[in-house]
Order: sequence, then C-alpha cells, then structure tokens
Amino acid sequence: MIHVDLTHVRESIPFKTYLEKVKMINQMIDDKSGKGNDFLGWTTWPSTYDKEEVERIISCAERIKKEYETLVVCGIGGSYLGARAAIEALTGLYPENRIEIIYLGQTLSPNYIAQVLNYLKNKKFCVNVISKSGTTTETSVAFRLLKKLLMEKYGKDASKAIFATTDKARGALKQEANKEGYETFVIPDDIGGRYSVITAVGLLPIACAGGDIIALLKGADDARIAYDNGDLMNNPCYQYAVTRNYFYNHNKSVELFVTYEPHHTQIGEWLKQLYGESEGKEKKGLLPDSVTFSTDLHSLGQFVQDGSPILFETIVRVNTPSEDITMEEEENNLDGLNYLAGKKLSFVNEKAFEGTLKAHEEDGKVPNIIITMDKMDSYNLGYLFYFFMRACAMSAYLMDINPFNQPGVEIYKHNMFVLLGKPGVK
Ligand code: PA5
Repeated sequence: MIHVDLTHVRESIPFKTYLEKVKMINQMIDDKSGKGNDFLGWTTWPSTYDKEEVERIISCAERIKKEYETLVVCGIGGSYLGARAAIEALTGLYPENRIEIIYLGQTLSPNYIAQVLNYLKNKKFCVNVISKSGTTTETSVAFRLLKKLLMEKYGKDASKAIFATTDKARGALKQEANKEGYETFVIPDDIGGRYSVITAVGLLPIACAGGDIIALLKGADDARIAYDNGDLMNNPCYQYAVTRNYFYNHNKSVELFVTYEPHHTQIGEWLKQLYGESEGKEKKGLLPDSVTFSTDLHSLGQFVQDGSPILFETIVRVNTPSEDITMEEEENNLDGLNYLAGKKLSFVNEKAFEGTLKAHEEDGKVPNIIITMDKMDSYNLGYLFYFFMRACAMSAYLMDINPFNQPGVEIYKHNMFVLLGKPGVK
C-alpha cells in the first residue's frame, strides 16, 4: 500500500473544479477512447497477464540463476529503466547472494561498452536483450558485440545464453530469435516501453534478481482496483495528478522527484522517463528531475531551498528500512557524535527528512507531495509502479497530450541515421 500526503502542499488545490474532467478522463482510459488508445493495455495487464508466460519467466529465471554468474540486461529507455529501478530498490547496490546484473544497450559510449565487454570475458554470462521495435541502435549495437563475445565463449551453444524480449511477431530481433532459436518473451502490442515494467520486459530481469514477480503483479493489480476510480475525492492517485497539473498551471515548471536511499535513485530515473516522455510534447509539460537526499542536499539542495521558485517536490519514501544500524558510543568522542549513540540510522535519516521538509516547505515555500510506502518489497513496488503510470496517463490527458507516443525522440534518431549513412534514410 502507499499513502499520498498532500498536507505539505501550501496552496489548497481546487479539486472540486476538476471533478467532472477527471471522471470523464477515467472513463476515457477505461473505454480506451482517448489519444494513444492503442497503448492502454497496461491498465488491465496486472489482472489479464499471460499466466503461462509468467510461469515460464519464473522457471527461466531459476535456470539463469543456476547456470550463470552474470546477467546482461541489454535495452534502453522503457526497455530497461523499470527493471533496473526494481532490481536496485529490492536488492540494493552491493547485493550478496544474487546473480550479478550489468546494463548494456543504453549507451553508445565506446569507453563504457569496451570496459563491460572486457569485464565479461572472464564471466559466465547470459544476455536478456529487450527491444520492442527490435531496431533501436544503442541496443542493437551492444547486442551484436555481446553475441560475438558469446560465440567466442560458448561456440554454437551461444544462442542458449540469449533470451530475447520483443514483439510477438514483428521486428528484426524477433526474426533473428526465430532463426537462431533464442528463448523469447513477448512485449504486448498495446503496451509501450515506459509502461512495460509489469510485462516480461521488467519481470524476467527482476525474477533473475530474486524479486517476487507474482507479488509485484498482485501489487499492481491491487493498485488497479484502487485507482480505476473516476471519483477524484476518493482517488489519491488522481489527486496527485491534479495537484501536479494545478502547479503546472500556476507557475511551476519542474517536478523534482526525491528519494532518501541511494538504491532508490533509479526509481527517480524511471519516473523522469515515464513523465518526461509521456508529457513533454507540443511545448507543454512539467520537466521531471530527480535527486537522492540527503546526498543531493549538498548540491541541488541549495537551489531547491533558495533558487528560482519554479519547482515542487514529490517525495517517495519508505516507512521501514530493510536493514538498520545502531550508532555506538565511543570513549573519546573525537568526532562529537556520542549524542547519536543508541540511535538507529533510520532515525537519523528520518530527522534529515523532517528537517528538510520543514526547510523547503516553511522557509523555501516549496510545495511537497509525500508518497509513502509501508516497506520496499515486490508487492509495494508493483503498487507504486501502477500508481505512477495511472497518474501519468491522467496528468497527460489533463493537458490534452497523448501519453503514449514519443514523436520528439524520432528526430535525433533520424539525424543520427542520416549522419551515419543508414541505407534508405535521407
Ligand atoms: O518508452 C518508450 O517507448 C521508449 O523509451 C522505448 O522503451 C525505448 O526507446 C526503447 O525502444 P525499444 O524497446 O523499441 O528498443
């Protein structure tokens, strides 16, 4: 479960003026009659997903964990950010007792790619290549290089170490998978990349990392039941969407997503992509940014407190940490920290949160939306993912934007292809 706290939003949001619009948009989402309506499959996916495929994902993940030291997740944008956010949030940044997971296919940096390939030379690794279109340059380039390395390592058995998540019928990756005999998983036609973490796109890597994907889907489904509700006064998900829309219309141009754990930083990256790519169109949209506090209180914190008043904060918090440490007394107290002896680090982090909230809200006049999860586990993460996806669809529709396309992204691709001399592109 998650709790949405709007009491630190100083302005009182005129929810009543949004009642009819929200009701109408919710109906439009349910009827699949709005802009981009071909891509609303994710709304019901947590209850309609292919149970057999999920069973196959679970057994494939067991096999991967048993047979390999390292899993390379090869994808970009919506084809890897959700998986990475979940894996880090659930298992931390320096996990013990789980398969190592490395990300490739999200960059064209020769330095990064060369270093990863070199590192993999001595690892027993496999690859989950993820691409709905099957033609994304960053992913295809990295995958070609990975295949060469796999061939060198495993010879004709290389294809057994490749797991492809792609369209059920179309695209170069699907054709190749058919020809080479890779095990494949499906990205449904009606679910776009940034809404796909609850499909095989996210589920296979998350299961390999030890996440409970059935619980994650159950969390998403419980959120679906809670938030598929056009009554704004009883729907915290849409209250959040309306609040950010209200700020957008009242001189705020940035939504700053805040987490308080380094291993939740990637949740911020996933959110930036979800909202930035869904809403940033037709010269409209809030710019989504993200920070990890207290780390970034020593960098962007200054701007938040005292800089241009262009932003509001959306804090994603977890009530109970998975692990904790108690500060101990030291005889000499040279660092002067004995006043914290006996206190848990979760308590210290909590006070950092409370002090920051007071500073930003009261002194800085920065509105704060606080979204709290009881604890970080697969169930609650599924719930959170669905909450933000549903709120994103509502937010974009409130701005009369199609949440499910990304026409702006195509322009850089076109220019790059022209510069690279890709056949058939002018
Ligand atoms: O959200 C999106 O649709 C995009 O970010 C895509 O996920 C990203 O461009 C990767 O596309 P593909 O899965 O086709 O390789």
